[in-house]
Amino acid sequence: MLVEALRRDRDLTDAQFRTLLETDQYDEKLRTAADAVRRETYGQAVYLRGLIEFTNYCKNDCLYCGIRRSNTAASRYRLTQEEILACCREGHALGFRTFVLQGGEDPYWTDERICSVVSQIHREFPDCAITLSIGEKSHESYLAYFEAGAERYLLRHETADAAHYAMLHPSDMDCANRQRCLFDLKEIGYQVGAGLMVGSPFQTTDCLIADIRFLQSLQPDMIGIGPFLSHKDTPFRDKPNGSLTLTLRLLAILRLLFPKVLLPATTALGTLHPMGRELGLQHGANVVMPNLSPVGVRDKYLLYDNKICTGDESAQCRHCLEQRVKSAGYEVVCSRGDALTKQ
Ligand code: SAM
Ligand code: FES
Repeated sequence: MLVEALRRDRDLTDAQFRTLLETDQYDEKLRTAADAVRRETYGQAVYLRGLIEFTNYCKNDCLYCGIRRSNTAASRYRLTQEEILACCREGHALGFRTFVLQGGEDPYWTDERICSVVSQIHREFPDCAITLSIGEKSHESYLAYFEAGAERYLLRHETADAAHYAMLHPSDMDCANRQRCLFDLKEIGYQVGAGLMVGSPFQTTDCLIADIRFLQSLQPDMIGIGPFLSHKDTPFRDKPNGSLTLTLRLLAILRLLFPKVLLPATTALGTLHPMGRELGLQHGANVVMPNLSPVGVRDKYLLYDNKICTGDESAQCRHCLEQRVKSAGYEVVCSRGDALTKQ
């Protein structure tokens, strides 16, 4: 009943969402409905994003994150502009048409340096989309990156509940500012990705309902969700990992709520369960993000313990994911894969 109503109305009451989120049984009806909507909208297509983790320096201290500034055990690195371009060249030859530059909030990477690398990628690969994921910045900075050629931006809102946000972050970080960033990015014209960790410490069903309401007000083009996974050198080292079932259920709910949204089957999901990404695709996800970072730095971008794919070459990662997508019943598409929300 609830699944049909969600598919038909693309909404539910808070009480109905609570029922759907709190069932602990696997729900094949929900999965089938999400898969049907995804096939109506995107067919079998799964879009590839080449992920370049270009710095693990971070001035922030999020309590959950393995690259937080207080983690003195992290071995820090940053790629040079030339190394980033080399990753793009390798990725382009492998068929990637989107590059995602992700990193901690690293003061070395001033706006000038970011604009310089973005415009160089834009010049050399005019057929590719450039996505940035480098945290909270001013409207002015976001505008400068956009004018340099970045068209997409990933910034998970993390949690829409301000009290919960304060339990996950130090007091110098603010839920309202993160949300302000997302609305600024949208206003400038970026394709915007918000998102959250499923099962982050202290998360309740009320938090997830607040997340759904926030996403409905933002109307993002992408939603990045994956399970929270603990990292041994953070204050949350003893917190339990997020649940596979709840992550899959939330993916399916999001597909039904936002038929056109781009939804990645994340590396965190693949770390939680060997078939996590395949299951994610079968629950409505339609994006995968193979790693293009040089092998020498991969095992340093550790947001959580036991991260997968840290030893593989880019070509291996690309090939492995293509096989996984096929085995799940879908087809990798080598195009920019723009969000249908823009059409
Ligand atoms: N600095 C940028 C930012 O803040 O958006 C991008 C990098 S940040 C490390 C990317 C995302 O990783 C975060 O938004 C967070 O949701 C996720 N993340 C961090 N620690 C995690 C953990 N322990 N488990 C799962 N996801 C995590
Ligand atoms: Fe770097 Fe959270 S620790 S953004």
